[in-house]
Amino acid sequence: MKIHEYQAKELYRKYGVPAPEGSVAFTPDEARAVAEKLGGYPVVVKAQIHAGGRGKGGGVKLAKSLEEVGTLAGEIIGMNLVTHQTGPQGQTVRKVLVEQGLNIAKELYLSILPDRATATNVIMASEAGGMDIEAVAADTPEKIIKVHVDPLLGIQGYHCRQVAFGLNIPVAAMKEFTKLLANLYKLFVQTDCSLVEINPLVLTADDRVIALDAKVDIDSNALYRHKEILEYRDTDEEDPLEVEASEYNLNYINLGGGGKCRRRDGGERVPHHPQRPQRQRHPDQHFRRHPALRRAGPGRGGSGQESGSESTRGGAHGRHQRGSGPAHPGRIGPEPDHRQEPEGRGPENSGDRRIVSPFCFLALMGEREQKYN
Ligand SMILES: Nc1ncnc2c1ncn2[C@@H]1O[C@H](COP(=O)(O)OP(=O)(O)O)[C@@H](O)[C@H]1O
Ligand SMILES: [Mg+2]
Repeated sequence: MKIHEYQAKELYRKYGVPAPEGSVAFTPDEARAVAEKLGGYPVVVKAQIHAGGRGKGGGVKLAKSLEEVGTLAGEIIGMNLVTHQTGPQGQTVRKVLVEQGLNIAKELYLSILPDRATATNVIMASEAGGMDIEAVAADTPEKIIKVHVDPLLGIQGYHCRQVAFGLNIPVAAMKEFTKLLANLYKLFVQTDCSLVEINPLVLTADDRVIALDAKVDIDSNALYRHKEILEYRDTDEEDPLEVEASEYNLNYINLGGGGKCRRRDGGERVPHHPQRPQRQRHPDQHFRRHPALRRAGPGRGGSGQESGSESTRGGAHGRHQRGSGPAHPGRIGPEPDHRQEPEGRGPENSGDRRIVSPFCFLALMGEREQKYN
């Protein structure tokens, strides 16, 4: 699940990752009130959408007076912001973050994400942070350093120093940077993130390190144990079809075009073989394949009886099921909750993320050593 920058910054502050002072505003009047509270200029007005690239798209503006804050907020709220991450259709801006403008000496890049290939968490960092990081990754990938952290060991001082040296952090900012990185890692693990990203992480003229931007993606499968983060969900930013599917506990991924697929693990899959000719597909075919949904009665392709016969026609797994249901994928029935945890492993008991005995720990470490030597 994606969250907004202002929400991610709330989390950052909670975990001791410094971020500029600021607050969200839904109207120009609210934006002015926030700016007045900040009490100094420049102030930055930032569009809040679930996509990056806002700076280049005109969604981040610097204001030097109270009037300018109101004017810029009025321009940004309600605009259709098109960035390389929104796609050509853009995204409507419904709120802005009004925060203090910082005196930037250098823009860095810092992120943490799981690396499946090595079964570690990888810290990625670059001295060439800022709005052109995609170009840096494509043209000069050697400018991005990677430090792998074994999840069983957690982040250690030497990991932080390795990243700090790779970023040429000045000595005066070293202590603050290593603390920031350790806290960011703690946030990543404790809130079950699939990504935390700061771009840019800025070095100020007075050797402070501050997260100027904040991206946090949470693993949706872990949300049941983060009720407070679930409050951050903004369905206005999500694909309406995906929102509707999530109401029925379905992992639905809209891949655009005519091909769509649904997987219980939420993983992605290439929908079609490029050379294979495409058949005409019914828009809600993927939903109706699910045995529970095929059993669902009225409202799904006619009467319950008809749905039942569709199920029979579809075979044991409903692979070849076809039907002439309504062309609206919305009318779907509930599926049984397969995600109930076995006794003793429900959400209330899952605070312990993984209990590893000392033996187990040593065995795992030995195994890993063998694998990598
Ligand atoms: N509080 C701030 N003070 C000064 N400059 C800022 C501030 N916030 C953003 N900027 C500038 O705007 C650029 C884009 O902002 P950012 O939050 O990274 O949005 P995006 O990644 O969506 O483009 C930053 O690289 C930075 O140069
Ligand atoms: Mg950014």
